[in-house]
Amino acid sequence: MRVFVTGASGYIGGSVAAALRGAGHQVVGLVRTPQKGEQVRALGIEPVLGTLDDGKLLADAVLASDAVVHAADADHRAAVESILAALAGSGKAFIHTSGSSIVGDQAWGEPSGKIYDDETPFVPGPGRAARVAVNQRVLAAAREGVRAAVVSPSLIYGPGRGAHRDSIQVPRLVALARKSGIARHIGRGENLWSNVHIDDLADLYLRALANAPAGASYYAENGECSMRRACEAISRALGWDGRTQPMSKDEAIAEFGAGPAAYTYGSNSRVRATRARRELGWAPRHSSLLETIGIE
Ligand SMILES: NC(=O)c1ccc[n+]([C@@H]2O[C@H](COP(=O)([O-])OP(=O)(O)OC[C@H]3O[C@@H](n4cnc5c(N)ncnc54)[C@H](OP(=O)(O)O)[C@@H]3O)[C@@H](O)[C@H]2O)c1
Repeated sequence: MRVFVTGASGYIGGSVAAALRGAGHQVVGLVRTPQKGEQVRALGIEPVLGTLDDGKLLADAVLASDAVVHAADADHRAAVESILAALAGSGKAFIHTSGSSIVGDQAWGEPSGKIYDDETPFVPGPGRAARVAVNQRVLAAAREGVRAAVVSPSLIYGPGRGAHRDSIQVPRLVALARKSGIARHIGRGENLWSNVHIDDLADLYLRALANAPAGASYYAENGECSMRRACEAISRALGWDGRTQPMSKDEAIAEFGAGPAAYTYGSNSRVRATRARRELGWAPRHSSLLETIGIE
């Protein structure tokens, strides 16, 4: 199969591209600079130079491929529209990357008992309404002759297999700990996040490409822990004693930005990947973010 991957130089897209190459597929990857193009070429990916804003370029790449993985930006509505227009009526697979922060509750460090599986309805907060609308647009393409599916990863950990090896949340918490001399979470840090290893996530994409029915939506997780426990593990990995320190909402917004502070570091995002396990036979191997946290 010839697969067009956006975000091919990124953490998720690069890892999915590597897994596709490992499974013998041909991969064409969107990159923004010639330098990134050389990096992905070294990994066996054929680079296409451009951006998500170039609808014609996206359409041409889509038309020349058998399937599409979109992993560059969960919020770029125009790119999704361009890709779907080119895919309409083709029956080809389109896997869109969203994220489990869509159920984020802005709890600012407090825990929640609310758990979401793939069928649990929810109303997104204002900061995630547009992202959820993009997901719904993708799923609606099932009625337009596209085998469209959405994957919503939870907190991803583990080294990426592409040109970009770092995820987002844990590395930023590590950087903050180094800067502060102590690991820090928002408020009590009792807010819970589901998590998934990047290798298991890449496997889920391959399974979805092969077998996801049109209109399917999958969370990706295999375990969960609180931000406080993640920060304790970071502290120990840095050679400290596991102590952590709370940060206020205002400090968190100044550190991470308003959106990430509210929907990522301060929220609960407890999801269950029931559909991927049941429908795709997905059986993630890695189960502990805490054991895996290591400092490079
Ligand atoms: N990592 C996580 O834990 C996680 C979890 C859930 C959801 N997500 C979502 O998944 C998406 C990808 O995340 P990631 O961790 O893989 O991020 P990443 O490592 O920053 O990768 C993003 C990739 O997309 C490319 N890209 C971004 N905007 C682009 C544009 N306008 N045109 C062309 N290429 C563009 C970047 O290119 P450059 O290399 O040139 O920057 C990079 O290769 C994001 O929307 C993120 O919110 C991430």
